[in-house]
Amino acid sequence: MRIYHAEHYDDMSRKAANILSAQVILKPASVLGLSTGSTPVGLYRQLAEWYRKGDVDFSGVTTVNLDEYQGLAPDDPQSYARFMRENFFDHINVKRENTHLPDGLAADAERECARYEAILRDSGGLDMLLLGIGHNGHIGFNEPGGAFEKGTHLVTLTQSTIEANQRFFPSADDVPRHAYTMGIRSIMQARTIVVVVSGASKAGIVRRAFAGPVTPEVPASVLQLHNNVILVGDREAMKQLRIEN
Ligand code: GLP
Repeated sequence: MRIYHAEHYDDMSRKAANILSAQVILKPASVLGLSTGSTPVGLYRQLAEWYRKGDVDFSGVTTVNLDEYQGLAPDDPQSYARFMRENFFDHINVKRENTHLPDGLAADAERECARYEAILRDSGGLDMLLLGIGHNGHIGFNEPGGAFEKGTHLVTLTQSTIEANQRFFPSADDVPRHAYTMGIRSIMQARTIVVVVSGASKAGIVRRAFAGPVTPEVPASVLQLHNNVILVGDREAMKQLRIEN
């Protein structure tokens, strides 16, 4: 694992954006796995700025997002589809037909998971996957206790994830109870994984994920088994992590 220490959120965003833009510059037809949450917002903003300046071109890129709430339409203000448009896709020149998210309104969940797996397969696999980490160690919506060998599947969100994500909704009751997520198997197949973490509230889970035992109880700990992980964290998020790099 390579570790980049950043000072603060903006520094982390810039360092991570540098890594993603390098990927796209070196391979214009890159397949990028993308995440939502508050952590990547700054790096999306930075990439959009570099796009506007002409430094990076997304016209050949394909994106495959990690997850989406079940039951939310793509234009629902809380959907991840809307998040991606507002925070990233609307500000760059990626072709809309090359951006993929699970369909929150799919009538048949099993078919939707199979459709998503086919997108991953047909794209040739993720060149670079951007990941945040939930406070309970979830990646995408792979919650503690899940199996490591799953592909895209429908999950029931844990109470702690519902509470953590409540800040984006009018109340906890409005947070959907189910979501589609790429599974750990799909995540581990990405060629490079870039993990972004920021803030003191993530310090404990960063230590458990990267310096603790590999266990389904901490889904992010499986990343220790991947041979090309880049961790970019700011001082507060990294303060409990003591590993050689
Ligand atoms: C959500 C997303 C995850 C994300 C996590 C952390 O639950 N499904 O993909 O990594 O939140 O979010 P944040 O970056 O806001 O802490």
